[in-house]
Amino acid sequence: MRLPKYVEIIESGPRDGIQNEKTFIPTEMKIKLINALSETGIKRMEATSFVSPKHVPQMSDAHTVYTNIDKRKDIQYMALIPNKKGFELARNAGVTSVALVVGASQTFNMKNVRMSIEESLNQLGLVVEEAKSSNLFVRFHVSTAFSCPYEGMVDEIETLKIVKSLENFGVDEIVLCDTIGRAHPLQVYQLFSRTLDLTTKAKITAHFHDTYGFSKANSLAALQAGVSSFDTSIGGLGGCPFAPGAAGNDSTEDFVYMLHEMGIETGIDFDKLIDCVNLVKEMTERRLTGHIQQLMTS
Ligand code: COA
Ligand code: ZN
Repeated sequence: MRLPKYVEIIESGPRDGIQNEKTFIPTEMKIKLINALSETGIKRMEATSFVSPKHVPQMSDAHTVYTNIDKRKDIQYMALIPNKKGFELARNAGVTSVALVVGASQTFNMKNVRMSIEESLNQLGLVVEEAKSSNLFVRFHVSTAFSCPYEGMVDEIETLKIVKSLENFGVDEIVLCDTIGRAHPLQVYQLFSRTLDLTTKAKITAHFHDTYGFSKANSLAALQAGVSSFDTSIGGLGGCPFAPGAAGNDSTEDFVYMLHEMGIETGIDFDKLIDCVNLVKEMTERRLTGHIQQLMTS
């Protein structure tokens, strides 16, 4: 089996995870979690998102969270941004790594950011230009890259068209997201293989949700296709407020455990991850979906 020796984990819990929690999580708890995650060996994470407080109240404290976390120099703290206004707010908070977002399905993009795909790409294309001229790191999520909660399966050609546009923008990283956790391993293997054939500049990252319990199988398929960076979420938190039925992200601790068992390095201290899962348990009232935490946490 062709596998990498090292896999990069991008922790998405503080953003993709927390955004979906119904009860507002106090700002100081969010900061505590990000600071604890910073001690695990994780080198990249999405800390928050600069989105409409009306549409996503959980992220209304983005400025306070971003400006108050202990920023380690060896860790990249990214913020998700849906539009130009979000970029301005993020810049104002001192964000240096941005995660922009577009959906591969028209209906999802319209519901998520209230723009057509073309409008998003036009507006965010200018944001990329501005960000690159200020030497910011630019990652770009392609949401519903495999399947849409409103339109069903997304044609691979549509996702690849967006990938090509993003590569032409000169972004640093493209994240193909199975936003509703509906993709299967063969689809994952094919789309990532074709994406890697099509791109040369951008790093290609995988982002899975575990709605049907396929996220580990999908991660393995992506690894075999040549992907070596993955978005995951501590405790398996996650979901999208605009993707009905979407379950949590692939859990960080389960994936790291699996990789370590396979002899693949992540640079992450597993015991410290479990400390973070315990923090997540304090923050949220709901039962976490990660498997290993059920065996190991207090
Ligand atoms: N952050 C905070 N406020 C924003 C904003 C942003 N990124 N973009 C717009 N606003 C404000 C505007 O300033 C305006 O404020 P005002 O009423 O005080 O003048 C108000 O929101 C409405 O602006 P408008 O451009 O009409 O926004 P909208 O209501 O059409 O919402 C988005 C568009 C993109 C902001 C909203 O759909 C959104 O936040 N989507 C993100 C969804 C998300 O987080 N999904 C999960 C991650 S993929
Ligand atoms: Zn997601």
